[in-house]
Amino acid sequence: MAQTRRPLIAGNWKMNGLTSDGIERTRALIEKMAAKAQPFDLLICPPATLLAPVAAALNGSAVRLGAQDCHAKASGAHTGDISAAMLKDIGCSHVIVGHSERRADHHESDHAVHAKAVAAIEAGLTAIVCVGETEAQRDAGKTAEVVTSQVLGSVPARANHESLVIAYEPVWAIGTGKTPTAAEVQEVHALIRETLAGQIGEAEAAQTRILYGGSVNPKNAKELLGLPDVDGGLVGGASLKADDFWAVADASR
Ligand code: PGA
Repeated sequence: MAQTRRPLIAGNWKMNGLTSDGIERTRALIEKMAAKAQPFDLLICPPATLLAPVAAALNGSAVRLGAQDCHAKASGAHTGDISAAMLKDIGCSHVIVGHSERRADHHESDHAVHAKAVAAIEAGLTAIVCVGETEAQRDAGKTAEVVTSQVLGSVPARANHESLVIAYEPVWAIGTGKTPTAAEVQEVHALIRETLAGQIGEAEAAQTRILYGGSVNPKNAKELLGLPDVDGGLVGGASLKADDFWAVADASR
């Protein structure tokens, strides 16, 4: 980990959590984070229904709040959708865009993800842009090609290290307990940083946080998050228990 890049540990709760357990988990993290200054940033991304109550619970805490998706438009006739400005208004600092589950479930293309990232940045949010290959693409030796083209297609040229975070999440590693080897993760992250340098410039790319996601847990966190180009994690399953999530964050120090 380069000195200038402070680790970001982001919890993606996905479609999990009702008010009581969501708030309980939030309170546990607030307490841990308040105990002393930490060398990492902690972010939780609850489902949309919990953003307002979690924002209220977080009031004044160092734990940051993010959403799992946003619409590309600022407002208008888009039933069921939520804009980046609305997320900012409710207290979010980050929004995940282009998670592989949205790319698959909602047929989101790189073009659509790019538009959402632009909207997020325009609203003053940090966009966490997700990329990653499927198992079939990996088996076909196409990981580098797929990840490069997703970065080129999804990342807005006007992004910088404050408005952008990249999450590399191999689709086959999400929720499966399988992960690439440490050497494979480092190789892809270095490639992402190199690709990013061509888009937003070398200095910005050098400072941009690139997270690894996909079956991160307290046991493998130290090895994965300690890699030179890995600047934190996007954590799904293990973020649903405050102690496990905290153990992952702790491993990033
Ligand atoms: P996982 O999910 O940690 O449960 O594999 C990660 C993600 O999809 O962000």
